[in-house]
Amino acid sequence: MIKSKGWNWNIVVGEHEDYWKNPSIESYYLLNRWLSQNKKEFLDLGCGLGRHSILFGKNGFNVHCMDISQDAVDKTRAWAETEKMTFDYAVSDMLNLPYEDNSMDCILCRNVISHTDTEGMKKVINELYRVLKNGGECYLTLGSKDTWGFKQEDWPLIDANTKLRMEEGPEYKTPHFYVNYEDAKNLFSDFNIITIYQVVDYFEKEDKVYDSYHYHLLIKKED
Ligand SMILES: C[S@@+](CC[C@H](N)C(=O)[O-])C[C@H]1O[C@@H](n2cnc3c(N)ncnc32)[C@H](O)[C@@H]1O
Repeated sequence: MIKSKGWNWNIVVGEHEDYWKNPSIESYYLLNRWLSQNKKEFLDLGCGLGRHSILFGKNGFNVHCMDISQDAVDKTRAWAETEKMTFDYAVSDMLNLPYEDNSMDCILCRNVISHTDTEGMKKVINELYRVLKNGGECYLTLGSKDTWGFKQEDWPLIDANTKLRMEEGPEYKTPHFYVNYEDAKNLFSDFNIITIYQVVDYFEKEDKVYDSYHYHLLIKKED
């Protein structure tokens, strides 16, 4: 299994930092959904700068934030302190979640669990299943094989589904695991898949248009 490697958040500044401090569009839907289901224990898996921890913390959830990057957890803690909120923090690898079995009501891992290889992905999914309570839900994204990154021939292939990202930046040399629809469905066959869809983000850099495809899944551990 490939060694895990987190993001280098210290080089994320300016408009990039602003981007990662604004909650994702779907997090507002999840907030309403999980409030209406009286969910309480919220795990922000791979919390980054803490945009979702802050949103859920402000809305009454008990927030558990974890990331493999010490900087990510430090920056989330500093932000939470300015908002006078106290969370449960952990610097840890998603391959071994530092939580009890059946302890989380809801988990958000947006653009996180793809940072491993095929063997690591199976381990992460077992961990999600283990820490979720019966009836608990998880929202996650997975890199799609349709995305530009998977098509980069000069990025090293780690296994049939995994590439090492060689672009300079915070994700330099982090593993990226990619799926198609069948892969995504099969990986989560132990869960009830409530929704699954593919989203494409377009962004322009140095006059080039990039198309970044991700599968978004909302899954439930059945009672
Ligand atoms: C694209 S960022 C997303 C951050 C956050 N989920 C958000 O939406 O703002 C990916 C995060 O996953 C973390 N990460 C990568 N590999 C990890 C691992 N093996 N265990 C825990 N966190 C990991 C990175 O350090 C980084 O903070």
